[in-house]
Amino acid sequence: MKEHRPVYQPNPEFAQNAAIKSMDEYWELQNKAKEDYEGFWKEYADEKIDWLAPYDQVLDESNAPFYKWFVNGKLNVCNQCVDRHLADKAEKTAILFEGDRGDVEHITYAELSLRVNRMANLLREKFGVVKGDRVVLYMPMIPEAAYAMLACARIGAIHSIVFGGFSAEALKDRIEDAEAKLVITADGAYRKGKPYMLKQVVDDALSQGGKSVEAVLVVKRNNEEINWVEGRDHNYNELIGEQHAECPYEVMDSEDPLFLLYTSGSTGKPKGVQHSSAGYILWAQMTMEWVFDIKDKDVYWCTADIGWITGHTYIIYGPLAAGATTVMFEGVPTYPDAGRAWKMVQDHKISQFYTAPTAIRVLHKMGEDEPTKYDLSSLKVLGTVGEPIDPPAWKWYYEVVGNSRCAIVDTWWQTETGGHMISPLPGATPIKPACATFPLPGIMAEVIDPDGTPKEAGETGLLCITKPWPSMIRTIWGDPARYEKSYFGDAVKDGKPVYFSGDGAVIDEDGYITITGRVDDVINVSGHRMGTAEIEAAVKKDDSVAEVAVVARPHDIKGESIFIYIVLKEGHINKDIKNHINALLSSEIGNIAKADHIVEVPGLPKTRSGKIMRRILRSIAKGEEITQDISTLEDSSIVEQIISKAREA
Ligand code: PRX
Repeated sequence: MKEHRPVYQPNPEFAQNAAIKSMDEYWELQNKAKEDYEGFWKEYADEKIDWLAPYDQVLDESNAPFYKWFVNGKLNVCNQCVDRHLADKAEKTAILFEGDRGDVEHITYAELSLRVNRMANLLREKFGVVKGDRVVLYMPMIPEAAYAMLACARIGAIHSIVFGGFSAEALKDRIEDAEAKLVITADGAYRKGKPYMLKQVVDDALSQGGKSVEAVLVVKRNNEEINWVEGRDHNYNELIGEQHAECPYEVMDSEDPLFLLYTSGSTGKPKGVQHSSAGYILWAQMTMEWVFDIKDKDVYWCTADIGWITGHTYIIYGPLAAGATTVMFEGVPTYPDAGRAWKMVQDHKISQFYTAPTAIRVLHKMGEDEPTKYDLSSLKVLGTVGEPIDPPAWKWYYEVVGNSRCAIVDTWWQTETGGHMISPLPGATPIKPACATFPLPGIMAEVIDPDGTPKEAGETGLLCITKPWPSMIRTIWGDPARYEKSYFGDAVKDGKPVYFSGDGAVIDEDGYITITGRVDDVINVSGHRMGTAEIEAAVKKDDSVAEVAVVARPHDIKGESIFIYIVLKEGHINKDIKNHINALLSSEIGNIAKADHIVEVPGLPKTRSGKIMRRILRSIAKGEEITQDISTLEDSSIVEQIISKAREA
C-alpha cells in the first residue's frame, strides 16, 4: 500500500550554498563509495585531517570485526580541534558558554588553546598522567569540561566521561572498569537558579572502591562548601595559573583510543565503548559539514550533556574540528521559563539547533506559541536525536520553531557509531516527518533479515551497517569477546557477520528509512539508554524481591518510561516497596532509572521451560490486548491476574 506522508522539499535558497546541494549529488557520492569504498574515504581523510605522518593503508579488515582505519597514520586530535585553527581563527569564538543564571563567556580559539595547554601541563606534570592512562570526568556543563577532554587528547590520555546524573555506585563501577588514575570533577554547578553538587558523589564512589584513583582534581564552580580529602583532592582554580602556556602534544596513532564511553546493552553491566582517534575525528568533522552544513559565521548549539555521545561528538569534537563556534549551556531550556531556549537562539543568533525529541515535546507542551515571541530568523538547520520523534512534535518543530523554512535533520546514530549514520542532508533531502531518511554518503546502512536478505518495503527488519566505517566502535574496553558477541552475532551478509544496531527499521517504497526503536532489551527514557537487565539486577538487591521483570511503557513526553513487575518472596509484605525500589534504583544507577510504575504481581508469565514471556509483559504495560498464544505458559491464569494488577497501577 502506498503511504501518504507529506514530503517537504529543501529550502532552495539554503540549498544553493549547502555542502551537498541535491539528491543527484548525494547519489553520486554514495555510488562512488559503493564502487571504491577505500578511495572514497581516502579522499576525505587526506583533505580533512592534519596528518603528522601519513597512513599506509585506508582500511585493514584482516582481523574483522576488529577493523583498523588509516593504518599507521599519526595525528593529534587536540591539534585537529584547536592548534591548526590558530593561524586563521585565533580570535573567533570557539566556545560560547552560557551559564544557568545567564552569565555569558566567549572563549576564542586562542584562549581555548591557552586553557587546554595549561590543563594538559597540569595533568602531565602534577599528576603524572601519560599516554594511555584513563581519566574519568564527572563534570557539569562548564568550559573546564571541554578543556579537560581536549587536554586528555593532547597528552594521549583516554577520557571516560560519566554523566553527572549517575549515582556514586555507577560512577565507582565505571572508574573500576577503566582503572582510572585521575578523576576530574567540580564542586557542583547551577541548575534552575540553584546550586547542585557533584563532589560528594565522587567522595562516595571513592569510599566504596576505585582504588586505582591517585588524585581528584576539583574545579570550583559554585563555591559551595565541600568535603576535602587532604593529599588526594586538588584545587584546579589554584593550580591552573601556575602552569606553562605551552604543552607539546603527543603524536598519536590513528587507532590509539581517544575515549571510552559507557553505555547500556541488553545484557550485563554497561560496556566501555572504545573510540579511535583518526576515524572518529574525521567523521565528527565531516558530519558537521554535511548534516549541519556548518559555515564559518554560524553559531551552533547542541543542547546535549557532555556525558553522552551527542555531547562528545556534537558539542566538542565535531564543532571544534570544523572550526565552528559551539554553544555550551549549563542550564535547562525550560528555566526560568519556556522561552529560555528561544531567547538564547535570538541573543546569540544561533544558526543550528540540535536537541532531543523529549525536549521538543516539553517545550511544545509548555509554550506552543513561545517561539513566535522571539526572533528566530538566524536558524537554518534544526536537528533531533536520541529517540524516535513523533509526527506532532516534528510538525511543531518544523512549522513553529523553524517557520517552515528550516530543514529538520532527524539524525539516527548511537554511542557505538561515533557520529551520524542515517540523516537527511539539509540542502538535498526532501524530508518526511519523523523519518531519518537515507544513510549518509559512505555509510552502508541496510534493513535486513538475520541472514542478510533485504526487507521488502513496509516490512520491519534489523537495522545493520554492512560495511565498517571510520568512526565505529573499536572494541569494548577490556572485553573484546563481548564486543564481537554484542554487535556481530545477530546478522550476516554474504556469509560475513555485520554490525547490528539493536534497532528495528522499515524502508518505504522511496527507500526512506524510518527507525521503529530497539528490538532488544534496551529502554530509551528521554533519550537515555538503559538495559532492562541492569535495572533488574539493581531491583534484585532488595531482599524481599523474589523475581523481577522490567519493560518499557510508551510515555507522552519521555518517549518511554520504566515499568517494573515484581514478585515478592513468600511471607514478605512490604507496603513501602515502591519507594524502596525507586530509592534503590536511584542509588545503584541514578535518578534517570526511576520507575513510573512498579506493580507487585503473584507470579510472572513463564513457559514450561521457565523462560519469562516478556512480550506478554510488554503488551500488558502498554495496555494492549494480549494476542500472543498463552496456552504454552506454565500457568496461563497468571496473565489475568497480572492484567488486573497492572490496571490498578
Ligand atoms: O534506539 C536508537 C535511539 O537511540 C539509540 C542509541 O542511544 P545512544 O547510544 O545513547 O545514543 C543516543 C544519541 C546518538 C539508538 O539505538 N536513537 C538515536 N537516534 C535516533 C534514535 N531513534 C530514533 N530516531 C533517531 N533519530
